[in-house]
Amino acid sequence: MFKNLFLTKPVEPAGHVDAGEPVEGSLQGEATLKRSLTATQLVMLGIGAVIGAGIFVLSGHAAAEHAGPAIVISFIIAGFACALAGLCYAEFAAMLPVSGSAYSYSYATLGEFVAWFIGWNLVLEYMFAASTVAVGWSGYLNSFLGSFNMALPASLAAAPLNVVEGSIVYTGGLINLPAVFIVAALSGLCYVGITQSAIVNSVIVAIKVIVIVMFVAFAAQYVNPDNWVPFVPENQGPGRYGIDGIIRGASVVFFAYIGFDAVSTAAGEAKNPQRDMPIGILGSLVICTIIYIIVALVLTGLLPYPQLSTPKPVATALEAYPSLLWLKHVVELGAIAGLSSVILVMLMGQPRIFYSMAKDGLLPKVFAKVHPKFQTPYMGTIYVGVFACLLAGFLPIGLLGELVSMGTLLAFATVSIGVLVLRKSRPDLPRPFRVPAAAIICPLGAAACLYLFWKPFSEHWPLMTGWTVIGLLIYFFYGYRNSKVRQAAR
Ligand code: ALA
Repeated sequence: MFKNLFLTKPVEPAGHVDAGEPVEGSLQGEATLKRSLTATQLVMLGIGAVIGAGIFVLSGHAAAEHAGPAIVISFIIAGFACALAGLCYAEFAAMLPVSGSAYSYSYATLGEFVAWFIGWNLVLEYMFAASTVAVGWSGYLNSFLGSFNMALPASLAAAPLNVVEGSIVYTGGLINLPAVFIVAALSGLCYVGITQSAIVNSVIVAIKVIVIVMFVAFAAQYVNPDNWVPFVPENQGPGRYGIDGIIRGASVVFFAYIGFDAVSTAAGEAKNPQRDMPIGILGSLVICTIIYIIVALVLTGLLPYPQLSTPKPVATALEAYPSLLWLKHVVELGAIAGLSSVILVMLMGQPRIFYSMAKDGLLPKVFAKVHPKFQTPYMGTIYVGVFACLLAGFLPIGLLGELVSMGTLLAFATVSIGVLVLRKSRPDLPRPFRVPAAAIICPLGAAACLYLFWKPFSEHWPLMTGWTVIGLLIYFFYGYRNSKVRQAAR
């Protein structure tokens, strides 16, 4: 009954594209996305998407509960897995400068069914991540306002439901209003245009990087090396300290690296994708990895690691030093700015993936509509914005954070395998960037990502399975019947 599930979408070498040229698959006279992004803007886009809740919110919990001061090693391990996947993304993004990221790469290599599966997982990575980070943003905003006795009442700053130790509990909240507000405001920006979004993003990135540099520069002198001893606390059970804790910590802080691949969703809008995609992807990844290692060292040097388990560990570490209280307010402002750029880039990425899927017939045409004036996928932007607002405002989003990481890890593993498959099936395609020693790097990247995926999956498999089943139903009832590649093959 289900024939040709693994049909691949034929790829043709993308000729050299320049600013002003239309994007793949566009019809003559049809509104298209706009090629306007430079290499620097792409690196900024990567840093904008990457540095956020992972370092400002999750790092303390990961150190306190899983790795101790060795959270630094967890960051290195997660960064290593991402670097391997990042090389693979760079090869694809330079070769196929299209908007669909891992979805498009899988379609070209592993076939439609896998492409759909990955596209569906990217919804976890982008839309759910935007909502998750919006909740972190709301927490930092309220904490900052609280310093001036202006905090919102708890009922307007928390979702009504939360999950505590596996049970759903009523929090007393009505809606997480600041989280809804930030998603709605940034969706509006995405609607208006990629250039505007990229400019706002660059400003925010500059602010957050300056704030992080200030944190390191001023707090480093208060580091007490005794807090780093023992560097690897003795194991106290599965995932708690020791080597196992370092690995579990790596799968938690993996969240901190999510987003460098969002650069690839803007490939359709890059001025010179062949040259600039690898620069954008790998450049942002290297910069963020260095920042994370230094921040993690300073953070664990400021306070004994068990005290870092708060939703705002960087601010908590500074609170312990009265002479650094001024810096705490600066850090809170930096986090508010930093988290908003993550939400922005995630909200920009999701409609562009839907755009590619709709162009291929796997999603309704409305997602492929491009605004005649703003040249953005505006209908997809509206739908994504509304859903992300609902998720951020009402759902127990904390639970979904690990789903975000799992969906992303699957996408990274698939892209790593896809590089090898395409090297074999289409050796003729011009590759402006090639993964060095691909026979080693690609399988190693896939294995590292699948290993980090497995750790949380063994705890959260019912949710992940439920998500996959919903995706499969949509595919078989809509995508399978409307796929353009299948129609062409008939
Ligand atoms: N890497 C992004 C963050 O840490 C998703 O917020």
